[in-house]
Order: sequence, then structure tokens, then C-alpha cells
Amino acid sequence: MAAYQAGSPVVLVPTMGALHDGHGALVEAARVRAGTAGTVVVSLFVNPAQFGPGEDFDAYPRAFADDCSRCEAAGADVVFHPSAAEMYPAGRPGVLVVEQSLAQTLCGPTRPGHFDGVCTVVAKLFHLVRPDISLFGKKDYQQLAILRHMVTELNFPIEIVGAETVREPDGLAMSSRNRYLTPEEREQAPWVRKVLLGIRDHPSRQAAARLASAREQLAAGAPLGRIDYLQIVDRNSMAELDEIDRPALAAAAVFFGKARLIDNIEIG
Ligand code: PAJ
Repeated sequence: MAAYQAGSPVVLVPTMGALHDGHGALVEAARVRAGTAGTVVVSLFVNPAQFGPGEDFDAYPRAFADDCSRCEAAGADVVFHPSAAEMYPAGRPGVLVVEQSLAQTLCGPTRPGHFDGVCTVVAKLFHLVRPDISLFGKKDYQQLAILRHMVTELNFPIEIVGAETVREPDGLAMSSRNRYLTPEEREQAPWVRKVLLGIRDHPSRQAAARLASAREQLAAGAPLGRIDYLQIVDRNSMAELDEIDRPALAAAAVFFGKARLIDNIEIG
């Protein structure tokens, strides 16, 4: 473990724990950014403020000992594991960081308040840890876009770095929630990735045509899947697109039983 040296970068990887190789890749990338003199901090905090009523806050996996081993193996120097009482001494936060523009599509409408909880906790982590750089995965593309926006609008002197999604060999995006899947659901879950690839490679410029064929493919390949949303948005503004005439993102949230899986793909 490197001792903190003034002047060398502090690099933060915020997580909710239950770490997998996708988180591991973020920590390794943070280690590269920090260099040997810098400090890599991983936060492990299942943030109650970003879960809605009826969501899986209580069931969310907690695996502190395994998380610490993974952090050490991936090159972290510090694990920050606050309690809910430390992060929110007054219970529910009385002051929120609210995203007004980029949360109108995708997970915004289907998880009301979710991104306000994310922005609030990440803003608090930024104040507590004071990183120079913070890394986030493109698997949560809208979250990454919103946090970039927050840092710009609220003048945090922090560089936000996006990292590629790490996948299982069959294409399923790694997620702490994959452990909720039954064997049958696990078998069908890679169809989310397959239909997103199909949307990217479809010849039509019309979003509706691409989405209609993706819905058909998903219903045929993954009958256990229930679509929460399947949308094509502008990659910067997250606004829904009718015609794909600029850098776009196709994104999906699909329920398989108790697990709500999200994934996305860049187009153009
Ligand atoms: P969590 O879901 O634990 O994810 C922590 C970070 O790991 C996020 O930046 C996420 O995008 C990234 N990540 C997750 N799966 C990944 C994968 N398969 N490949 C690459 N990166 C992946 O996202 C959160 O926690 C929370 O909302 C948080 C930002 C910590 C705020 O509470």
C-alpha cells in the first residue's frame, strides 16, 4: 500500500460493493491513472438514497471481506466503507443534488429519484475523498453522462473517466445483480447484448424500425425477459432520437425475474 504523498493524484472508484471483474477493471485503470505515487480509493457503500420503494436495497448483495481482497488484488490503497449513519446522519438527506435534464429518458422515468440519490452520494464522496480523478463504467452510461454533467455544472475540480463494460464470455455485462438470476434466466440474459448489437448493425436510419426488430428478437430469444425500456438516445443529451443522425446510444433495461439488467451500445 502506497502512503499518501502530497501533490500526487488521488483517484476514486465509487462502488456499492459485491465487486466483480468489471469493478476490478475500474480499480486497475485507477491504479494506472494514480501511478506509483498516487492513491487509489475504492468506496463500498450501498446507497439507500438511490433505491426506490420496492427496489432491492435490502436484498442487494453485501460481501465486504471478498470486496477487500478484490480491491487489494486490483491495486487499491484505501477502502472507504462508511455506514448509512455516517453518510446520512439525519436519515433521509435534506439536501439533494437533482439532475434536471439528462434524467428524462432511460432509467430516469422508470426509477424516479434514482439519479438524485446517485448525484447526492457521489457529490458527498467527492467532498469526503477529494479525488483528482474518478472512474465510472459505461455499463451505466446515463449515470456516467449525468455525473459528467454534475461535475461541470457544480464546478468540481475532478476529471471524470469512463471505462468500457466488462462482459462474461457469452456477452452478458457483468453486474452485481446477475447473482439473482436462475439458471434459465442466466441462459437467456445474453440476448440483451445480442439485440443491442442487432440495433447497432441494423441498416435503417429510423430508430423505430431498429427497435421493433429488437423487440421481436428479444421476445423470441428470451421469453423470460420483460422489457422495462428499450430506447435510442442522443449520446450527449440522452434525448430520445427518431432518426439516427448523430452519435447515439441504444440502451435497454430488462427484468429477468427479480433481476433488472441494464446494458447499452454506442451507435455511430
Ligand atoms: P455499482 O453498480 O457498484 O458500480 C460501480 C461502478 O462500476 C460504476 O461506475 C459502474 O458503471 C461500474 N461497473 C459496473 N458493472 C460494470 C461492468 N460490467 N464493466 C465495467 N464497469 C462496471 O454504479 C454504482 O455502483 C452506484 O450508482 C454508485 C456510482 C457507486 C453511486 O452509489
